[in-house]
Amino acid sequence: MTLLHDPDLTVAPPRLTGIDHLEWWVGNARTFAGFLCSAFGFAPVAYAGPETGRTDRVSYLLQQGSVRFMVSGALHPDSPIADHVRRHGDGIRDIAFLVDDVDASYEAALQRGGTGLRPPAHDTDDHGTIRHAAIATYGDTVHTLLDRSRYDGPFAPQFETTDLTAPVGPAVGIAALDHVVGNVELGALDRWVHFYEQVFGFGQMVHFDDAQISTEYSALMSTVVWSQGVSVDETAIVMPLNEPAEGRKKSQIEEYLDFYGAPGVQHIALRTDDIVTAVRALRARGVRFMDVPDTYYAEARERMAGVELPWDALEELSILVDRDHGGHLLQIFTETVTDRPTVFFEIIEREGATGFGEGNFKALFEAIERQQARRGNL
Ligand code: FE2
Repeated sequence: MTLLHDPDLTVAPPRLTGIDHLEWWVGNARTFAGFLCSAFGFAPVAYAGPETGRTDRVSYLLQQGSVRFMVSGALHPDSPIADHVRRHGDGIRDIAFLVDDVDASYEAALQRGGTGLRPPAHDTDDHGTIRHAAIATYGDTVHTLLDRSRYDGPFAPQFETTDLTAPVGPAVGIAALDHVVGNVELGALDRWVHFYEQVFGFGQMVHFDDAQISTEYSALMSTVVWSQGVSVDETAIVMPLNEPAEGRKKSQIEEYLDFYGAPGVQHIALRTDDIVTAVRALRARGVRFMDVPDTYYAEARERMAGVELPWDALEELSILVDRDHGGHLLQIFTETVTDRPTVFFEIIEREGATGFGEGNFKALFEAIERQQARRGNL
């Protein structure tokens, strides 16, 4: 890993104002974009490809609430996208940060020990200019630094409003990105936490050790780094990082690393204000979720004593519940959405709680392990 080369920490860290979008690099962008629209309720917003003057790749920009996914696919075998897909399968290539000043942010990230992948450059058309640069992070994942404040077209040059219509289905109600989780190599968690602290000036929100997150078979450690906004709101960048820990059998993080072939994004948590409606709609659209052990709800009702919850609906839909000092949260995890057992989604409703469902980890991991066992990887 190349970082921490004589960092100058007297330089102020880059000022990040949020996540602009996540970019997927996939084997077939048209079908993966279609899946995110039909199953998850995203709407196609813009498109770039040969028809718009871009000859090496196609990209679909999808949106729901303030969540934006770009889904890109290669048009030629020597494309870096094709190479990425061959090595990792479908996955998240880019967690793109919005910044006010790309040049200053890029220079600050480099001086604080980051590795530059693409120096600042701009793209211009009749709608204005976007400026961008890119910094390396875990595995082959990158952080684009993006300024679109001087652009008023559909997303960026070469993108045109798409005439693809969103499929019809019940409204899902995804409102915002809540957090983006990365899996890193065994023994590398502290190094990557340090990377985010040093290069981007992030803080540590919380740490879970393997005693807190373990089952009979599998264990992991996790530290949540974040951009230290005033609260966990629309502009806060919240990125939990996981590393596998020794268990009796193969950890789910190890299974991810084996199949992705590198560190990478494990799950994307999407926030909703009404998780019962969202999950009912997602199930109607064909999304498959982790099942929950039969014993979960009797235990959960005791753990949540005093909180009024729609228990029948939660149990019917297999929604998980947890509480912390600030309030409670409801959450559910999909099965992996990629061919390789790597990337999945979380749907989360926060009612005051700022945690990540620590009380559910054990129940969840036992469900994940049942699926791992079915794949012969436990
Ligand atoms: Fe999560």
